[in-house]
Amino acid sequence: MSNTAAINLTDIDTELSQQSPQKILRYALENHDNIAISFSGAEDVVLIDMAHKIRPDIQVFSLDTGRLHAETYRFIDAVRNHYNIQIDIVMPEAATVEALVKEKGLFSFYQDDHKECCGIRKIAPLRKQLLGVDAWITGQRRDQSPGTRAAVPVIQDDKAFARPDAQLTKYNPLANWTSQQVWDYIRAFEVPYNELHDRGFISIGCEPCTRPTGPGQHEREGRWWWEEATKKECGLHAVNIDQ
Ligand code: ADX
Ligand code: SF4
Repeated sequence: MSNTAAINLTDIDTELSQQSPQKILRYALENHDNIAISFSGAEDVVLIDMAHKIRPDIQVFSLDTGRLHAETYRFIDAVRNHYNIQIDIVMPEAATVEALVKEKGLFSFYQDDHKECCGIRKIAPLRKQLLGVDAWITGQRRDQSPGTRAAVPVIQDDKAFARPDAQLTKYNPLANWTSQQVWDYIRAFEVPYNELHDRGFISIGCEPCTRPTGPGQHEREGRWWWEEATKKECGLHAVNIDQ
């Protein structure tokens, strides 16, 4: 989208918000050649299924923090094979991780909070990855977190990760879908899913920072459970908090 800067994204958002995720994805792919899906290895696989039907060689990347569940690694590879796509596995800088764990050990986030570790293992690699695209697609939904995601738009100008000289457009095609709609889609189209979902995990991140949720608990309660709800964003979606 060469002239995105001139276009009012708020107006487009109002219009796209009435559309299905598939139509939003079609719009995104028609407007950007260099666009990638940011795939966490969880139920956001629906984005790959939908996008693959429009563009079979859709670009996908996953941030490999080095701390994902073995099941998630297996699932990412299963998705790669199922759709016959390449998935960029994006790793953090070894020297920075080594310095962190040398100084503070492998579980510093339980004492310090998750910001420093997420900054090194997720945010810095994401920033580097996003330098190479004009737009990215995430699986964020409003129902994932009443505290931080209630106003997630379908399309946004991502100033948090944009290069100084270019616009970066962020699409959240599932913003208005509920968890139930995502799972109805997965069942209806027999989309492969992470086996941890059958073991009580709803929201899945890194292994030491994710646990299953019990009856009546919100999905976000299984993430960084030792921290306050309003702090449960790791910075991947900093634009939610900035705007
Ligand atoms: S997080 O910020 O709290 O970790 P969450 O797990 O809710 O995010 O996922 C929301 C969206 O962020 C995912 O649908 C995906 O687009 C992106 N995302 C989260 N974790 C990763 C990851 N490890 N690799 C790539 N994208 C990710
Ligand atoms: Fe580190 Fe936990 Fe953040 Fe993963 S979720 S990068 S292990 S603090």
